[in-house]
Amino acid sequence: MTKTQNFAVLGLQWGDEGKGKIVNFLSPNFHATCRFQGGHNAGHTLIVNGKKLILHLLPSSICEKDALSLIGKGVVLSPNDLFEEISEANTFLDGVEDRLKISSACVLILDHHKKFDQCREKSNSFKTIGTTGRGIGPAYEDKVGRRAIRLVDCFYEKILEEKLRENLDFYNFMFNKLFSVEEVSFQETFEKALSYGERLKPMTKDISKLIIEMNNDGKKVLFEGAQGALLDVDNGTYPYVTSSNSSAAGIASGSGLGPLSVSNILGIAKAYTTRVGEGPMPTELFDDIGIHIAKKGGEGGATTGRPRRCGWFDAVAMKKVIQSNSVKSLCITKLDVFDGMESIKICESYDNSDEFFEESLNLDHVKPQYIELSGWKKPIYGLKTLDDFPKEALEFISKIEEVCGVSVDIISTGPERESTIFKNDII
Ligand code: IMP
Repeated sequence: MTKTQNFAVLGLQWGDEGKGKIVNFLSPNFHATCRFQGGHNAGHTLIVNGKKLILHLLPSSICEKDALSLIGKGVVLSPNDLFEEISEANTFLDGVEDRLKISSACVLILDHHKKFDQCREKSNSFKTIGTTGRGIGPAYEDKVGRRAIRLVDCFYEKILEEKLRENLDFYNFMFNKLFSVEEVSFQETFEKALSYGERLKPMTKDISKLIIEMNNDGKKVLFEGAQGALLDVDNGTYPYVTSSNSSAAGIASGSGLGPLSVSNILGIAKAYTTRVGEGPMPTELFDDIGIHIAKKGGEGGATTGRPRRCGWFDAVAMKKVIQSNSVKSLCITKLDVFDGMESIKICESYDNSDEFFEESLNLDHVKPQYIELSGWKKPIYGLKTLDDFPKEALEFISKIEEVCGVSVDIISTGPERESTIFKNDII
């Protein structure tokens, strides 16, 4: 049997766990990085040569000049936003378009998807989810509603015309009757979509075939999750979720490979919890400690700039996603944010919960039960070895391992690439 040794990095909370830095750190060990779900709702912040680069759609390997960056069919692609991101990346990276390969089966996000997302969020007839307003949900709804425009459609004028008419009939009906806003012009959308196809065609590739060929040549691929496992449409805190499988379940469908194509899954979690947008968050802090964590952790969204809600580490939700994502190894980020705090809590169990609440992650009414640990005085910010760690910080890590049942193999102590400690070898 061939051992592929493809590897996946997934966020295990509600996104923003610091995946970008870790993927960027690991990517020199791989020949390609592949995004398999989500769209430009993601925000992966990288520090490259002292400069800050926020990626939304481009895989984090774009900074590796010898690696390919792959966008699989599970991603919803906004060509406009991709072009903007490419121009930004081009200001300090070479050959971005040559190293980028995109699946022809990607569903497109066009202007009317964004408009629909924003109209629905504002409307009193619908629940406010606090989406990024970037058209992600409507594009995925098109996919399961079998009316999506895929990248491949833009290569063939006749096919595009037919599909876009059907698609816009649907949206214009909704704009007109439901939201009472201006309809979208077919001709304008059609011309734009054709021009997107023209520019994207040279970057288009059969991604599953490419990965299989790479694996057959002994080359390894890193799968980069976007958002977090608790935002997964099937396994997250529904309906306050994104519209894709942001958990391990999405790797196979979103890249066109079999479920055994990944041999290891690394889960990334912050030492505390954050969430942007609406939805339950049992350990949320509404006091000065929450404000302190938000300030010290710089918890403003990388994509929308909205403040992130902050709370203690939730080991109950974590154990659940470790199981549903086959996570074998954990990376804890932002541990340094606790520097100087008197005490730190971890939620170990929920009160008022039952099997059904927990299966559906219906966390509105659960009450967190905490264990309390001592904080540490000596800062760990920027430390590069565990030998210099205060014993209380090591105890916190051991407690996470004990309650979650998985080993913490990587600890991040700051935003720089160098502030990353490998407790155990994972690759
Ligand atoms: P959507 O993905 O824009 O439809 O938003 C659905 C929910 O997912 C909202 O609560 C967003 O704030 C959240 N979300 C989407 N992408 C991210 C992300 O990259 N980080 C954190 N939250 C996200």
